[in-house]
Amino acid sequence: MKPKIFSLALAAAAGIGLAAPAAAETKVGLLLPYSGTYAALGNEITDGFNLALELAGRSGEFDIVREDTEVKPPVGLAKARKLVLEDEVDVIVGIVSSGVLGAVRDFIDGAQVPLIVANAGNDNATGDACSAYITRVSFSNGQVNRPMGTWLAGQGVKKVYTLAPDYAAGRQMIEAFTETYTAAGGEIVGGEYTPFGQTSDFGPYLANAKASGADAIYTFYAGGEAISFVKQYGSFGKELPLYGSGFLTSPLYVAAEGDAAVGVITSLHYVPTLDTPENKAFVEAFGAAYDRVPSEYAVHGYDAGMSLMAAIDSGASDRETIAAALPKVKYVGPRGPLEIDPATNNIVQNIYIYETVKDGDGLTQKVVGTVEAVRDAPKGCNLR
Ligand code: PHB
Repeated sequence: MKPKIFSLALAAAAGIGLAAPAAAETKVGLLLPYSGTYAALGNEITDGFNLALELAGRSGEFDIVREDTEVKPPVGLAKARKLVLEDEVDVIVGIVSSGVLGAVRDFIDGAQVPLIVANAGNDNATGDACSAYITRVSFSNGQVNRPMGTWLAGQGVKKVYTLAPDYAAGRQMIEAFTETYTAAGGEIVGGEYTPFGQTSDFGPYLANAKASGADAIYTFYAGGEAISFVKQYGSFGKELPLYGSGFLTSPLYVAAEGDAAVGVITSLHYVPTLDTPENKAFVEAFGAAYDRVPSEYAVHGYDAGMSLMAAIDSGASDRETIAAALPKVKYVGPRGPLEIDPATNNIVQNIYIYETVKDGDGLTQKVVGTVEAVRDAPKGCNLR
């Protein structure tokens, strides 16, 4: 979707007789899912990216080519190759799935094309498989989930059953939570990985969780799977308290989950209720452009756009110089202070623990805890 300010800006330009926008200077490949279980996430990231360029009045500087990964690793790799070899983009922005990021990593590194990761949390991409060409402005799977293990144990929740989709992101998120939760005295009494993108009936898994004797469920689901999971959790009577990483109840689709989401407590690097001047301005601008509240995915797209513009402003103009400039980006954005760790090219940021609560007829996010400046261990990566 084009932000509304796009047409307003053009109309204003036409009205005062300005010349046509300058020819595009930077070619960007947006590599995102526009179909499949994460399609809504791809569209939201695109909207956030476009908004950053529009608000800066700089859309005319960028030539954007979109490709659909379909959330499938081989398709993502084929589309990355097409963007680099046929379209000859200067930079790729995107990737939602950790599986797709894992599949394109070697190609990106070998082709020496900068990739701004605008979602996929795959820990390896900024760990033992890091690359000078990969900079992540979203989050890592470990970063979002480690704080929650410590927090949940501190709440006196002693036994947990885990559920997540069976692919890299599900496994890494559950492993990160498990590490800190058990270190703080918690016990994992069982868990399952559900077939990714193919599970429509979560009933048997919820029954196993109940039978395990756990005090609570900890989970990661996102997009279409999150909606199905939370709705079914509600129809099974919310038998155990539900916790997880905050994508589970993202503002992008929490309305579709409805009352089943009320009381669910999760951790995430952004919620639209953050009370800061930077976030309030962002929420207002996003709302004016798209008539809805932004989610974390919108912020990933927005910060990818902001980082790319900052890299260009620092003098970068081609693949090599853009890759070198991206990790130096640092500013306070909608989610709070944002910087890139020079050792790994992963973002360093606050993690917020939030509860989904009722707000009139709708649902909103109440922050109940903040862990500041969460940074990943380099885990075999030493870029600088
Ligand atoms: C991932 O695959 O890394 C992923 C996908 C969707 C999310 C978060 C992480 O919301």
